[in-house]
Amino acid sequence: NNKKIQIAIDGPASSGKSTVAKLIAKKFAYIYCDTGAMYRAVTLNAINNQIDLDNEQSIVDLLQHTVIDFKTIPGGQQVFLNGKNVTETIRNEEITNSVSAVAAIKDVRSNLVKKQQKIANNGGIVMDGRDIGTTVLPNAQVKIYLVASVLERAKRRLKDNQNMGINISLDQLEKEISNRDYKDSHRKISPLRMAKDAIKIDTSSMSVEQVVNKISTIIDQKL
Ligand code: CDP
Ligand code: CDP
Repeated sequence: NNKKIQIAIDGPASSGKSTVAKLIAKKFAYIYCDTGAMYRAVTLNAINNQIDLDNEQSIVDLLQHTVIDFKTIPGGQQVFLNGKNVTETIRNEEITNSVSAVAAIKDVRSNLVKKQQKIANNGGIVMDGRDIGTTVLPNAQVKIYLVASVLERAKRRLKDNQNMGINISLDQLEKEISNRDYKDSHRKISPLRMAKDAIKIDTSSMSVEQVVNKISTIIDQKL
């Protein structure tokens, strides 16, 4: 099938969006775009430039001198900030706990949303984030909203952290996840919300493979 559609995958922190989106992109030979990585790169840039995260104007000004690039590699994506590979750095705890504040800034969002729409313009794309189905790609042919309990998501993060040798308690991770969910769903500009025409999948007791199979079936019906 030659039809190249847009697939939007949204949901709260650690619901499995990027894991599932990458596998779907691979399966259908589509491009994968992690929009969270853009907000993370902007946050890293602000921190690198010692800008106070309350200083919205300076963050927006800095954006004019910021180049964020993606390189699609087998099984994922690399992120470059002003030419430097920051794929790993943007996942660190400091960025993770600061990014929601930066993502709440109106002009940061409008700037990044434009970039995202350009990337998705020709279809054949799997894009994950918080506002893809509601704001970035309102006409996406497939919209998925992934959810899982806070405890389950914290357990997943714990496991990911342990694999990277990072030690944060389950309790602390639950707090951080709830905190980020709250900020992301209560901000003024395009808060985390399920699009009316999205399909919700509760992955709490599903394996990655089960989720991928379920979404693949939904996509096949549209192709
Ligand atoms: O992967 P994880 O769920 O930890 O987060 P992410 O997808 O990398 O997104 C990091 C943060 O960026 C989120 O907590 C949101 O504050 C923000 N974000 C957003 O506002 N809109 C998007 N489309 C994607 C991310
Ligand atoms: O992108 P997002 O923050 O939504 O989540 P992620 O970075 O993909 O992390 C989700 C983690 O949970 C990964 O370690 C997955 O292997 C795991 N997982 C999942 O994504 N889906 C399931 N149904 C079960 C586990």
